[in-house]
Order: sequence, then C-alpha cells, then structure tokens
Amino acid sequence: MTIWSDFGFTQSPYDTESLPPTATGERLLVGRERHVARLINRLASSSSHVTIEGEAGVGKTSLITIANYRMKRNTDKARGPLMLPLGEEFQITTQDAVKLFEAKVYRAIAEGFIRYGDELHEWGYDTPKMKDVNKWMNSPVLRSISGGVSVAGIGLAGSKGESINASSAFAESGLPKTVRNWMRTCFDPPGCGYFVCVLDNLELLISSASARQALEEIRDTILSEPGLRWVICGARGVVRTAAASPRLQGRLCHPIEVEPLPMDDAIRALEARITEYSRGGTPPVGPIGFRYLYEILKCNLRNTLQKCEDFSFWLHDEGISGADELEHVALLESWLTFLSDEYAKNPSISTKGWSLLDDMADNGGTCNFDDFGIFGFSGVGEMKRHAEELERQNLVEMAPGDTGIDAAVIAPNGWLARFSRSGYRIPRQ
Ligand SMILES: Nc1ncnc2c1ncn2[C@@H]1O[C@H](COP(=O)(O)OP(=O)(O)O)[C@@H](O)[C@H]1O
Ligand SMILES: [Mg+2]
Repeated sequence: MTIWSDFGFTQSPYDTESLPPTATGERLLVGRERHVARLINRLASSSSHVTIEGEAGVGKTSLITIANYRMKRNTDKARGPLMLPLGEEFQITTQDAVKLFEAKVYRAIAEGFIRYGDELHEWGYDTPKMKDVNKWMNSPVLRSISGGVSVAGIGLAGSKGESINASSAFAESGLPKTVRNWMRTCFDPPGCGYFVCVLDNLELLISSASARQALEEIRDTILSEPGLRWVICGARGVVRTAAASPRLQGRLCHPIEVEPLPMDDAIRALEARITEYSRGGTPPVGPIGFRYLYEILKCNLRNTLQKCEDFSFWLHDEGISGADELEHVALLESWLTFLSDEYAKNPSISTKGWSLLDDMADNGGTCNFDDFGIFGFSGVGEMKRHAEELERQNLVEMAPGDTGIDAAVIAPNGWLARFSRSGYRIPRQ
C-alpha cells in the first residue's frame, strides 16, 4: 500500500529520479527531441567527445539516457558507426579517484563485451573469447573494485583500505591493456564502432579548475581510446570551462546547452506522467498547481517535482482524499503560503543575510563573491559569511568557481522564503 494507490495512481507521478532507459522513459521525455538528435549526431559524426552543460535538475541525465536507449535499439551497422552504450553513468568527485575511475571504466567495458558479445559476433565484429573476459571479471582484484566500492566516494579509504592499493596496482596491471586490445581488434578499422560512456555530474569536483585537471589527467588514457566515445556532463559552467582548456582542445566538442523546459513542455511532462500512472485518481498537483510551483522554483523540474511530492505527503497526512483539482489548488496555495512563511521567519538569518537573498533573487538567483561591492558588502569575506549563514539554513547553495568556492545560488527553500518575503509574488524569468 502506498500513498499513491490511495490517490488513484500506480506510482508517484512526481518521481525525481532521472528517466529510465525503457519505453516508459521514452514516453515520459518531453521537449528534448532536438537535444537527443544533436547528441546522437555528434556521437556518430565526430571523433571528439560530446559535452553537455546545464543546471542541476534541468534534465541532462534523462536526455542522455533516452538517447542511449534509442541508440541501443537502433543499432544498425549499415547506417554508420556502431554505438553501444555502456549502461552505467560514471562520476568523479575527487581528484584522487581518477585512477580508480579508470579502473571502473575498464571493468565496465569488459562487461560491455559480455553484454553485446553475441550481437557483435553476429554483425561480424571480432570479439574476445568470453572465457577470457569472464576470467578477468572473476579475478580477485576486479572483484575488489566492484565489491560495492563507489569510485565516486572518498570514503573508499576507510572501509576498504586495501582495495585502493589493489586497485591502483590493477590500473597499472594487465586488464586495461587487455581490454584496449579487445577494443582495437573488435572495432577495426578505428571508428567503425565504439562504446558510449557517460561521465556525469562533473560539477561535483568542487571547482572548474579541478574538473579541468581531472579531464586533462584522463586525456591520454580513456579519452584517447578510439573504442570509446564519451558524453561529459556538468552544471555551472564546469564543462564549458574544461572544454575551453588548451590541453583539451580538439578532444571535446563545444557543449550542447540544456536550458530549463519551457512552461508548456514542463506541463506536458507532468501530464505524460499522470497519463502513465493514473488509475483514474485526481493528482494532488495537477497542471494548474504545477505551473504555479514551477514558476516559484524558477523552472527547475527536479525541485518542482520534489515539492509536488512533499505536498502529496502532507495532503495524505492530513487525511484529505476525494478532493477535485480546484480544491487541490486551493490547498496547495495555503500549504505553500504556510511553508514559505516558515522559511521566511527563520530566526537564524540576519537582516543582512535576508537582503543578500533578496538581491540574489533580483539578480536571477545567483551571486558572485567578486561582486561584493554591488551587493553592498565591504569585502569578499563579509559577503561569504552571509552566504554561509543562508547556506546553513538550506536557503542557498555554494557554487564552484574557477578558484574554488566563490559563488552562490538560491536553493529551492530559498525561493520559497523569497516567495513569502516578496508578498507571494511569483518570480518571472
Ligand atoms: N524532458 C523531460 N521530460 C520529462 N521529464 C523530465 C525531462 N527531463 C527531466 N525530467 C525529469 O526531471 C527530473 C530531473 O532530471 P535529470 O535528468 O535527473 O536532470 P539533471 O541530470 O540535469 O540533473 C527527473 O525527475 C526527470 O525524470
Ligand atoms: Mg543528472
């Protein structure tokens, strides 16, 4: 029993996970046909890696997943290079993790050979013997890498101290070489086919500088492998900055920019979910309420879905059921007013903190600490202290800049506080 079945739905229509690589995922993806086409065209037509830039929650991962899903379905050797997505999204969050990340990639390629082995064979590609692949996959070193260890996490050292040594030894050892040979033999002549890999959330590497450095580090290894084509994805300019690095010139395509879905598309996205999951119930947040929330939250799809879900829980907790859409809208309005007043009354925020939030809102939701003068502060330090005060209350998030933390953006709760502070005016883009 879930709250969704009480509302007359098979599951949450407000799920914030990125869309799955399935027919359902494809039906739910709205308004990104051009992006998907661009992504596939770049992959098919260039030997450079593809980059994607766009704010967190706008839908980057979803569109890559669906593009990959289509590529996999349309694998048609006659029409161009064979593009085989490795169904895994990689991340690098700390500089130290680069080596381990590489190891994980080689492992995934070996898995790719297992997954696509029969098809590759059918199409006449020269594939490694599965016996050999399996031998590697079951070797103790590889098992230690995959044994629940997240490449992304720095927590590696704590729980599995020995696997780090084992893994770095592994990285220098035979598997990368073996896997590279498999790829060279299989995709011959070079460019006739490759595995498509996704490096997602590059912004998790605190600054653009470290993101660029990480990419430079893998430039001569996995980024120069003819059997691999990367889709590198990030927010807040990190990918754009990295792509502009002279050392990466010619390796990375100019970024595909992903903007927030326009209002009409966002509403269609919601309607697609309602159609997909409804068993005849009235959604807690329908198109009218969704429009309202999407505007308040500055067209951030993930944050909007999240608030829809929060509201649904509240509605259910209050035991309200059987209301129609207009009643739900009225309830959503009072819930939002109450919630945003709560955030706006937060006693831990000083007057200067509030005025920074307001000025950021007027500035489109961001601020750069270099602009302290414009924001009425005497120096970077003072401005940063007030931004941190807002950050501690989850009203803003610090954003990475070229030299480390030097910017901030308003978080969803910050937009709600602002909603209350501005007399419930919906901020227009
Ligand atoms: N084009 C779209 N159509 C419908 N839903 C989308 C679309 N893009 C994203 N979503 C939904 O929005 C949320 C955020 O998408 P996601 O791809 O994870 O964003 P990002 O990777 O940019 O942070 C997810 O719940 C996803 O299902
Ligand atoms: Mg993502």
